Amino acid sequence: SLTIRNDVPGNSSSPILYGLMYEDINRCGDSALYGQMLRNWNFQANDTGGEPDLAFWNVIEEGTKASIKLDSDIGLNDANTNSLRLDVNELGSGRAGFLNKGWWGIRVQEGESYKASFFAKSDGYSGPLNVTLEKAGGGVLASAQIDGLSKDFQKFEVTLSPKDVKETSIDNVFAISVNSDEAVGNPIWFQVFSLFGETYKDRENGLRKDIAETLAALKPKFFRFPGGNNLEGQFIDTRWKWNETIGTLEERRGRMGDWQYWNTNGQGLLDYMYMTDDMDMEPILDLYAGYSLQGDSVPEHELGPFVQDALDELEYLLGDASTPFGKLRAEHGRKEPFKIDMIEIGNEDWFSDTYDYRYKAYYDAITEKYPDKTIISTAAQESRPWDLIDDHYYMTTEEMISNFDYYDNYARSGNGSGIFVGEFATNTAGCCGTSPANLQAALADGVFITGLERNSDFVKMIAYAPSMKRLDQEQWDPDMIHFDTEKIVVAPFYYIFQMYSTHHSDTILQVDAEEGGFDPLYWVAGSNKDLNEIYVKVINLDPAPQPVNFSLKGLKVLNYGNATFVTGNLADENTLDSPNTVVPKKNTFHIRHQNQFGYTFEPYSATVLTMKID
Ligand code: AHR
Repeated sequence: SLTIRNDVPGNSSSPILYGLMYEDINRCGDSALYGQMLRNWNFQANDTGGEPDLAFWNVIEEGTKASIKLDSDIGLNDANTNSLRLDVNELGSGRAGFLNKGWWGIRVQEGESYKASFFAKSDGYSGPLNVTLEKAGGGVLASAQIDGLSKDFQKFEVTLSPKDVKETSIDNVFAISVNSDEAVGNPIWFQVFSLFGETYKDRENGLRKDIAETLAALKPKFFRFPGGNNLEGQFIDTRWKWNETIGTLEERRGRMGDWQYWNTNGQGLLDYMYMTDDMDMEPILDLYAGYSLQGDSVPEHELGPFVQDALDELEYLLGDASTPFGKLRAEHGRKEPFKIDMIEIGNEDWFSDTYDYRYKAYYDAITEKYPDKTIISTAAQESRPWDLIDDHYYMTTEEMISNFDYYDNYARSGNGSGIFVGEFATNTAGCCGTSPANLQAALADGVFITGLERNSDFVKMIAYAPSMKRLDQEQWDPDMIHFDTEKIVVAPFYYIFQMYSTHHSDTILQVDAEEGGFDPLYWVAGSNKDLNEIYVKVINLDPAPQPVNFSLKGLKVLNYGNATFVTGNLADENTLDSPNTVVPKKNTFHIRHQNQFGYTFEPYSATVLTMKID
């Protein structure tokens, strides 16, 4: 039996305990969260960072003769030096043009409109251009017409509104074509395309709505970005460069990401910040800190410009419009400076032996200009203090469970420094990257976060990683959210994380166990003063149901409570074909005498009990 104690003081719990870690991995940025529906939309490089090509674009010749080619002599600007050139050689009664197949298809849904834009020019043809959404096998879903091409590149924008769409489909293409004789012999050049459906909170250049809503439903309180490894670059020169991700789409430069595919940077620094605004998350800005994945460190005497670059990034986000970079941000559409309290210096710098001098250089420069920021160190180092240290855990089931009490026994430093568990996930097949996202992993993760929440006076933030993957394109399993072009399915741990994050305790209450300790049950109890509720979060690792008698001390509750739980077999996974194998269920339970009740925890389960304080 367990006694929940409100007659002794509890520990205050972090108000921002559960949040998100985000980087473009598993194709979860380009092709997914970033709502751009066209692939290879600006021809800066091929999919793996090599020579640019016209992959994912096909010529349309319907009773006509036409060709498309990549033209490296005609560019839009310094960032976009290649164009798609359309030559119409013969036009019969049909049309000539080209199409894009999107990222494994283009999703068209009932009631949705699609905004398309692109740059085009021609010396001898002024239009019309037909812009269409079509079935891949033929059949126009929506069309718009453009006129007024001239010899200089201009940006054109249209809205495509398919009618009579009854079912969602992805076997669709985006096309531009001509059927006017005047196009014959007059090449047309195109650059920087975009196509967006409905975006989250209607942001321009925004997020695929259903994926963003799935993230938002976790009620995340913080957002760490842009990495992870993808911040660092494999090499110093291929690091994530903030200033190449800002401005209009046509100003941005892509880079070879760390996860074996090209990153367009269509989703850039401001877009991430808007996401924190739109989901009401505290940003945790992770700064490149002079170390890249293959092991190169910027030497100490060469670090100056890199530190200055980080200060410029901070000024871009935090400076008012009287500062040079604050002014640039205002020109990019955001006049108000952002509020950023937490700054992380690097990522997983325990891999390097140079963090001491690098951390010191960044720490000194940042704290001199911004003395009130929470500075996050990614590894223990001796040069300067930190407010939080970012600990990562990719562990087996057994290791994760045995780390349940890791922070119980951790020496609180006494100088205010705390823990940020910036990445964790149970890898049942061992670290890193090929384990199933099944209930067994979810329950081990559940045990681990139960231990973290028990210590949430000191463990300030918790994020699972990686958060998302495109199915069949993953570099790293397990992940919480899985999707393809059409659908989303979430892993069992998504629900446990959601159950924990949406039942926020401001105070962690002492729980006394009369006989036995943890295993197979793991618990944490807490109260929320604003909502006048208490929560008991329990993981049961046993295949048998576990009855528990609860007593409440210093606390009376109404005569019933609500339970939310997930349960199943350890190997259970949610898939596109079977998305509801492990989903939360609800029931209510009775409470005797306002301070005593029994509850039987389901086999292999995670449960949150909610009671109203009387
Ligand atoms: O989450 C996947 C990777 O794991 C992150 O990019 C990195 O920080 C860690 O090694």
